[in-house]
Amino acid sequence: MQEVNLKEKYLKFFESKGHKIIPSAPLIPENDPTCLFNSAGMQPLVPYLKGQPHPLGTRLTDVQKCVRLTDLDEIGDKTHHTFFEMLGNWSLGDYFKKEAISWSFEFLTKVLNIPVEKLAVTVFEGDETIPKDEEAANIWKSLGIPEERISYLDKDNNFWIAGEEGPCGTDTEIFYWRSNDPVPKKHDPKDERWVEIWNNVFMQYEKHPDGTITNLPKKNVDTGMGVERTVAILEGVDDNYLTSIWKDIIDNIVKMSQTTYEENPKSIRIIADHIRTAVFIAADDSGIKPSNTDQGYILRRLIRRMIRHAKKIGIDLESGFERTLAEMIIEKYKDYYPELTKNKEVVLDVLTNELKKFNRTLEKGLKEFEKMVTHLQGNRMDKDLAFKLYDTYGFPLELTVELAHEKGIEVDEEGFAQKFKEHQEKSRAGSEQKFKGGLSGNGEMETKYHTATHLLNAALKIVVNKDVHQKGSNITPERMRFDFTCDHKLTEEEKKKAEDLVNEWIKEALPVTVEEMKKEDALKSGAECMFIEKYPDMVTVYSIGNVSKELCGGPHVKNTSELGHFVIKKEEASSAGVRRIKAILK
Ligand code: ALA
Repeated sequence: MQEVNLKEKYLKFFESKGHKIIPSAPLIPENDPTCLFNSAGMQPLVPYLKGQPHPLGTRLTDVQKCVRLTDLDEIGDKTHHTFFEMLGNWSLGDYFKKEAISWSFEFLTKVLNIPVEKLAVTVFEGDETIPKDEEAANIWKSLGIPEERISYLDKDNNFWIAGEEGPCGTDTEIFYWRSNDPVPKKHDPKDERWVEIWNNVFMQYEKHPDGTITNLPKKNVDTGMGVERTVAILEGVDDNYLTSIWKDIIDNIVKMSQTTYEENPKSIRIIADHIRTAVFIAADDSGIKPSNTDQGYILRRLIRRMIRHAKKIGIDLESGFERTLAEMIIEKYKDYYPELTKNKEVVLDVLTNELKKFNRTLEKGLKEFEKMVTHLQGNRMDKDLAFKLYDTYGFPLELTVELAHEKGIEVDEEGFAQKFKEHQEKSRAGSEQKFKGGLSGNGEMETKYHTATHLLNAALKIVVNKDVHQKGSNITPERMRFDFTCDHKLTEEEKKKAEDLVNEWIKEALPVTVEEMKKEDALKSGAECMFIEKYPDMVTVYSIGNVSKELCGGPHVKNTSELGHFVIKKEEASSAGVRRIKAILK
């Protein structure tokens, strides 16, 4: 239980330094169409890093569940995970470099008892626009880190941004000597025995979509420490999967298989990693199910790849192994993430249903693959063959690529992507970008759509019935999508009425106001809210005139008159009991 220990120590430490502990936000960000999953602790905090006051003040700390897909191909090695937990502490225009660095140092050396002799740090070397970070270096020196253990590196190393735009800044990274070899006097950034343990970002800039960088209204601190890696360090192993975090899960996988960890570490790590990520995605309150688009496709890919490796190492696919492992994961993490218990049955069903679905064609697909391979001219598989495996046998591209690589064959991935895109045209507009991750969603149009979403929600309650509730939304600069509970297809009249009502409110030039209040008071006052669990005790409530009141992180326009003309373009089924409206502002 080292990881629980670490999490508790971290949160307590920062609480003692005046920080408020906030719950992890969901894995799937709301209203951020450019990003499939939260991939860093700062991501759900972007509005606050940009200057909006946080209801709990200017010092925050948490454990955030994260998914990073950039590492998908690396899974199977000793150190990568698709899901991980990130510890973080934030200053929202409060303390800056001195406190952040001193507290990092204190936590590592006094709480975790890591010897100073095993630490090294990097700071930004400076360029034509941003000066060398002497300040950070001097603070480190004053704490006892010698000059030879400080490396000055460029923007690629010591400047941090999530994706392409948003809050960003120079950073200082802390490294630990993970080796039994004697610690060298001097830090060598190229020596992989030095592993990064913590990152402190001094977020004082914002990068805009056109590439320009401006100052944020306040100077913030954003830090991130990966739980898995830190536990590996504390337990003195160089394979994250050999820590206490994974031990019982790995032991169980081995027990159910026909192999050992030493013989098949890659498959075993992939199974362990992918099932944990699948459990967390399926348990998120947004209700993602395996599908062929967006987060649903990632979920499908993870489950199917996990199943393929389970088969490879001789696990009986009909033994219910997926449930056994999922239950262990839920048990392990349920105290920090209550949604795991709440949505347990959903998670187990998602896994079993997907397994059944894939298992029906897996065997045939693998045979077909073998056949294709024997008939290949050269060592390249064309897009049509790869697409056939996808379309007929449900093989996600990555699976085909992985199988092909095992035989030294290349797959025409670009050609496949093209075909796949044509095939998915309807629902995948713009999602290429999303796979890259990153942040945005706070532009002028997105802000307008965000407010329009609240108006539409309120209008549907009046026009359809008061039990209409938001199930999700997705906003791009071009349009808004709004999912809501409703048991019937809207009539032309209902659609027209909802549209007219929204336009009436726009004409009335209603003010949009924001207030902070206790969660229970907000609920008592009748404020709407999608996932109550995810909000901290103090919440932000946005009101539009007296027509709408919702718990929400913003951002919103100041007055409905800014919105223009609202038009519903489409109304369709989304899933059982859920309808979807697509609308634009002209
Ligand atoms: N946001 C920073 C990171 O993810 C702390 O490394």
